[in-house]
Amino acid sequence: MNTVLSANATPLASLDEWEEDLLNRYPDPESIVQGKKTEEFRNYEAPVRDTVKEFYRLNHTYQTYDFVTKKREEFLKFDKKEMPVWDAFDFLNELVDDSDPDTDLDQLQHLLQTSEAIRADGHPEWMVLAGLFHDMGKVLCLFGEPQWAVVGDTFPVGCAYSDKIVYPEYFVNNPDYNNEVYSTKYGVYEPNCGLDNVHLSWGHDEYVYQMMKDHLPEPALYMLRYHSFYPQHREHAYDHLMSAHDHEMFKWVNLFNPYDLYSKSATPPNWKELRPYYEGLVAKYLPSTLKF
Ligand SMILES: [Fe+2]
Ligand SMILES: [Fe+2]
Repeated sequence: MNTVLSANATPLASLDEWEEDLLNRYPDPESIVQGKKTEEFRNYEAPVRDTVKEFYRLNHTYQTYDFVTKKREEFLKFDKKEMPVWDAFDFLNELVDDSDPDTDLDQLQHLLQTSEAIRADGHPEWMVLAGLFHDMGKVLCLFGEPQWAVVGDTFPVGCAYSDKIVYPEYFVNNPDYNNEVYSTKYGVYEPNCGLDNVHLSWGHDEYVYQMMKDHLPEPALYMLRYHSFYPQHREHAYDHLMSAHDHEMFKWVNLFNPYDLYSKSATPPNWKELRPYYEGLVAKYLPSTLKF
């Protein structure tokens, strides 16, 4: 019998497991200095869970150029749902995390902790807004998309997979791995063509970027679109596809990343108190309803 899980499997107990694994791979330098470690972040030095490996095996097997093209066609029409902005947060929160109900925060709380940390450091208000919305694309799960097509580090498709991507060995299962064009360094792209011309693996980053692209300034859009592109913003594995403008804009992506990864704390933000500020901010930039 074949025991390999199918493409519809859900190896992660919750999407947060991917982010916890990111913390193992990219620990907070300040926590190391201050010796805070496990108090602050669970699983800080835990061995990689089999569920995470299985998640990446599926992700690397099925994220092909063809798959990404199809998902873009399917989801970027935004013809699935339309709702008031604040209902969208309730909708996102239907993604219940049942792995550890005592300590895990819901999705809105992670978004608020990110945006509040950005605000506390005095960054521009559009960056605060990027913090508030950066994971809104995870609603893809609620449309029945498998975990490996929603979260996970993103990477370009249509060209060679870098060995700096986490678990590169799983790419041998990907049909594009032996494709004579897609397996070359540049694949279907031109040298330094700019990331706007490059398809990344499909997931919550591209989806929320497309949702917001007419409403936020460009640095905020880069933060949304590339916040999971660890192979570039942490590993610099795709400089050969980046334009000079991308490099300039990735300063903002790099600025954003620690707020996403290291702002989690067990204390939930006081939503009631914060709501008026965020209602004003949202009204200033966004239309009253969002399309999914
Ligand atoms: Fe994210
Ligand atoms: Fe996040």
